[in-house]
Amino acid sequence: MLVLGGITAVSAHARPASSGVAAGKLQPQQRGAALPLPTTVNDFFQPGQQPQPTTIEGDPYQQMYSSIYNCANCHKVDEAFDDRVMGPFNTWSTSMMAHSARDVIWQAALAISNTESSMSGEYCIRCHAPQSWAAGLSTTGDLSNFTDPEHFEGVSCHMCHRVVDPIADIENPVEDNDILQALVNAGTYPDDPGNGRFIFDPVDTRRGPEDDWGVNMHGADILVSPHHNESTHCASCHDLHNPLMSENPDGSHSLNAYDSAHPTQSPHDMMPEQLTYSEWLNSDFADGGVNFPDGRFGGDHPTGTMQSCQDCHMPKQYGASCIFWYVDGIGLSPDIPDHSFVGANTWVLRSVHDMWDPNDTGLNDEALDRMSAQTESFLQSASDMDLVELEDELSVTVTNWTGHKLPTGFPEGRRMWLNVRFFDDEGTQMQENGWYDFDTGDSLLDDTKVYEIKLGLDAEMATLTGLPVGETKSLTLANTIIKDNRIPPAGFSNAAYESFKGEPVGYSYADLQHWDETIYDIPTDAIAAQVTLYYQTTSKEYIEYLRDNSPPDEKGGPSIGQIAYDQWVMHGRSAPVAMDSQVIYFGKSKITGDANGDGYVGVDDLLAVIQSWGLCIACDGDLNRDGRADVNDLLIVIANWDGQG
Ligand code: HEC
Ligand code: HEC
Ligand code: HEC
Ligand code: HEC
Ligand code: HEC
Repeated sequence: MLVLGGITAVSAHARPASSGVAAGKLQPQQRGAALPLPTTVNDFFQPGQQPQPTTIEGDPYQQMYSSIYNCANCHKVDEAFDDRVMGPFNTWSTSMMAHSARDVIWQAALAISNTESSMSGEYCIRCHAPQSWAAGLSTTGDLSNFTDPEHFEGVSCHMCHRVVDPIADIENPVEDNDILQALVNAGTYPDDPGNGRFIFDPVDTRRGPEDDWGVNMHGADILVSPHHNESTHCASCHDLHNPLMSENPDGSHSLNAYDSAHPTQSPHDMMPEQLTYSEWLNSDFADGGVNFPDGRFGGDHPTGTMQSCQDCHMPKQYGASCIFWYVDGIGLSPDIPDHSFVGANTWVLRSVHDMWDPNDTGLNDEALDRMSAQTESFLQSASDMDLVELEDELSVTVTNWTGHKLPTGFPEGRRMWLNVRFFDDEGTQMQENGWYDFDTGDSLLDDTKVYEIKLGLDAEMATLTGLPVGETKSLTLANTIIKDNRIPPAGFSNAAYESFKGEPVGYSYADLQHWDETIYDIPTDAIAAQVTLYYQTTSKEYIEYLRDNSPPDEKGGPSIGQIAYDQWVMHGRSAPVAMDSQVIYFGKSKITGDANGDGYVGVDDLLAVIQSWGLCIACDGDLNRDGRADVNDLLIVIANWDGQG
């Protein structure tokens, strides 16, 4: 382990770990005296292509970054022609990735990160604004070089479609050999993916998986790239480690020497942050795939067997890849990959639409509604829930059907929890576990199961930074994981997950277990319970952290953290989405059709159903227990009619 000069000097000035400061509620003035860490851009160096400021005057096609408006000219299907037919631009413009540099949560986190580790923003810009990074705009570590609206284009068409497979393969374009060799010669060939280690074609090309395109209208070559059908295409950004740290022999992580690249450049020696790609790589999805006979993923996928990220996140749909083909009536195809990259975020796009010119974002209310509906239904596909009544207990099992942990990705603010409400025979709620207030965003979750990851500081980092030991929301200072009970995917094994530092922390899952069971005591007199699995991307705790720790605005306006907070409030406080919800009735079985429980089925039961007509939980009239008293319940009474006293 390298513990060198700079660090010792810093710790000499560091305050002892402060007690009495509630974790996660630090005010800027309470933060460690030693911050920001004196890191430089060199600490964040990653192998792969390095930024290439646009040098070729007057030839936009040779620039590292080319506006999406170029691509939209042909790859957007104008709603005026047909608002049901989607081109890649139509769907991409409603993706979080399209707006990853406009995302106000990200901008606030970036500003805070620079107050914790100098120049760490340079690293953030790499993945969240890759074209601008490649064009050399990240040198200040903040967004001060982002002077044009186009600089905020996030993960853009050109970025993805110019990416080269890092692994040589005879099926890849022959051009790749020289590109990879040049990196090897320069000593910057990336041995491992992740951390934004991009390889772009230095010459403008449009690389995509299809080999049957008709006319090339690009003025740039179209190269057939099988890599675009592989999950490794997503790995460069969806596996993320903190290069400031190295692993010690005892498994803890410590800071490296300042002002120099990570000594081994192996991501597995670094502090993990998000490991979606590795989670997938060590699951059944990477090994033959998982078949979904119910077709919940993949759109028009021919077999329903899901393997790659693209299989689930770019489902095949009816559309046109190019507007000209559509006009000619020959370009409609049932298997255009959806570029909206639906995930879990239900509100940040609305905030982007609020804060940015629609001419720059391509967003409109209709598209936002479509995206919200798609995201909700995707979240509902992510899991299944089973309720079973045991003796005096209720068992709730949640099964993960995604290709990675559930939840996965960004560690902060995201959480999934069980809300359980018990009812008595009057239909009155007797007890609630996992309470959440949709009006205020407040919650009480310590009496229920919450699925989440929490990062922390150990004693060494606490001393160094002057922050308390334990939970932290800092992405660059965290050097330990204090909790990770997120549900693993199908094919999980402890040994494989330990090998990439993705093992559960403070919780255990058996090998192959991709579900989790929670037991609740059934209160005496409870006759039913309603159980709901909720998912939220931005918790109140996280947004308050951004608000309270954001540096002040230089011009005296609200800080970026305050703006993020206001947006969160304005757009429904990241309203939790119900992924699954079910009602269970306990034991006390009645004669079928005996709504009022008087021992026979007759006119009084018809009246009982009518009296509780409509939506109702645990009410007498809901004989088929579907959460409402309606015609179907009347039919049950009639079918079991005996008319006797
Ligand atoms: C995050 C990376 C990413 C971004 C951003 C992206 N694409 Fe794609 N694109 C892909 C991948 C991966 C595929 C292949 C998916 C598959 O076939 O499963 C693809 C497929 C395509 C295809 C082929 C469609 C067909 O006929 O099968 C076109 C055309 C295309 N993209 C254009 C665009 C345009 C235009 C944009 C911007 C508006 C864009 N892409 C943004 C990754 C991306
Ligand atoms: C002048 C019109 C035009 C412009 C501008 C344009 N494209 Fe295309 N592009 C096409 C056409 C036409 C095809 C062939 C579509 C087909 O036959 O399926 C195509 C195909 C592609 C493919 C190949 C997909 C595959 O695997 O078959 C990619 C990738 C692509 N374009 C990306 C882009 C990107 C990125 C931009 C912006 C930097 C862009 N295009 C700008 C017209 C255009
Ligand atoms: C250049 C980096 C980069 C690449 C390559 C990339 N992503 Fe992303 N992705 C991001 C970033 C950054 C975000 C976060 C955007 C935000 O929340 O502001 C993101 C977010 C997402 C989300 C979450 C959306 C939501 O609503 O929660 C999904 C799903 C996703 N990406 C899928 C993919 C897939 C599939 C691929 C490969 C085809 C891919 N990404 C390739 C950078 C990338
Ligand atoms: C079997 C289908 C499936 C596969 C394969 C899959 N995902 Fe997902 N993914 C989902 C579902 C469903 C969700 C929504 C639930 C959630 O947020 O975890 C999701 C969520 C996400 C999110 C948002 C996480 C969050 O909560 O912020 C990201 C990012 C993501 N996936 C990236 C990827 C990447 C990268 C791959 C490939 C390495 C991949 N996914 C493979 C189904 C899949
Ligand atoms: C290796 C690429 C990569 C780097 C470097 C990176 N991120 Fe991200 N970031 C992602 C991806 C991918 C996601 C999406 C994961 C998801 O949706 O759960 C994401 C999501 C986020 C989000 C969540 C946004 C939202 O709307 O909820 C924030 C905030 C964020 N990143 C901040 C940062 C900061 C601050 C840095 C620099 C210290 C940084 N990121 C560096 C890839 C990266």
